[in-house]
Amino acid sequence: MKLNGKKITLGVTGAVSAYKALELTRLLVKEEASVWPVMTKSASEFITPLSLSTLACARVSTTLFGGSGGIDHIRLAQEADLIIVAPATANIMGKAAGGIADDLLSTLIMAATAPVLFAPSMNSAMWGNTAMKENIEKLKKRGCLFVGPSYGPLACGYEGAGRLADVAVILEAAKEALDKKDLKGEKVLVSAGPTREAIDPVRFVSNASSGRMGYAIARAAKRRGAEVVLVSGPTYLPEPEGVTFVKVSTAEEMGEACVRYFPQSTVVVMAAAVADYRPLKSSPTKMKKEAKTLAVEMERTMDVLKNLGKRKKNGQFLVGFALETDNLEENARKKLSDKNLDIVVGNSPWGLDSETNEVTLITQGSHAERLPAMEKNDLADIILDAVVRLKAG
Ligand code: CTP
Repeated sequence: MKLNGKKITLGVTGAVSAYKALELTRLLVKEEASVWPVMTKSASEFITPLSLSTLACARVSTTLFGGSGGIDHIRLAQEADLIIVAPATANIMGKAAGGIADDLLSTLIMAATAPVLFAPSMNSAMWGNTAMKENIEKLKKRGCLFVGPSYGPLACGYEGAGRLADVAVILEAAKEALDKKDLKGEKVLVSAGPTREAIDPVRFVSNASSGRMGYAIARAAKRRGAEVVLVSGPTYLPEPEGVTFVKVSTAEEMGEACVRYFPQSTVVVMAAAVADYRPLKSSPTKMKKEAKTLAVEMERTMDVLKNLGKRKKNGQFLVGFALETDNLEENARKKLSDKNLDIVVGNSPWGLDSETNEVTLITQGSHAERLPAMEKNDLADIILDAVVRLKAG
């Protein structure tokens, strides 16, 4: 999901993390959102309106009176699709919970008709304070949304909960607040990444999968309202927020985890690049180089997807991938029927470790739909659109 055309009022309050609002603005603008920045008086102690307006390509509103000559707080509150307050201090959330409107930002929050997403940032003791907790409860009951705070070192020298959520996580929460909820009620199981099959304690057989495709599908499904389980082989990607994350290493562990979560899943997307073979024997100690050549005898692993296809019941929907270097459509169609799939996503190896992919979507009895090369984040939504469409019949 891209934010193109969405109007976002971004309220920045006075916390050391205010500088991260600049990066958030950059990301929102990159997603083609219109950002309307609002700063409190304290925020301008930390960053300048000039930086924010330059990145947002928009004027920064700071005062209730006099600004543009119009009624700014009404426009900013009611013409926006979403209001994000990042960073949100204890003060602004306390004011919002108590119905106090004594500056531009607190007044526009009172006048808001759009959803309000707070990204709190403060000292851990303040975050744990009872008044704070009660305020958050009040705001949640009124439908306000929250992202973070996260745990870690704080500007005050403490370590604890209170760090502003990562800007990428705030962006994801903003998308979630704005996205359609067409997967609500669905339980989506996604597998991602490569597997590793040990030769000895320091060597393994694996492949070039980055996990990006599966992670993008897990994030998009969560955003669209599904309950998501992500079974992931080793990757360098951050764990998506709000999903059940199951970390595995080998094909056998991937198989066990998928079989365990399969009965309660309504949709399965098997994006993992599962090893087809593993060394017959794995040495318990590091193998020394002795002979001139080395042959590692391999045995077949379980075909996880085929196994799930055999267990598939009415109401369960299976999506598989087919990685092909030649005869893509023919080979992918064969996997569609051999593994009892509802959709097969045919792709070529160049997409494996890339941000983008070029795929062909194939379903039973239909034409193959060849899609142009695109970012995996966008492709994830297209694959889920196809799932929703086909499930609806
Ligand atoms: N898959 C699986 N378990 C395996 C191998 C593959 O679950 N041991 C799944 C993959 O996650 C993918 C689909 O099966 O969704 C097809 O994987 P692919 O590597 O394209 O093909 P294979 O079935 O392994 O067949 P081949 O290597 O002969 O092309």
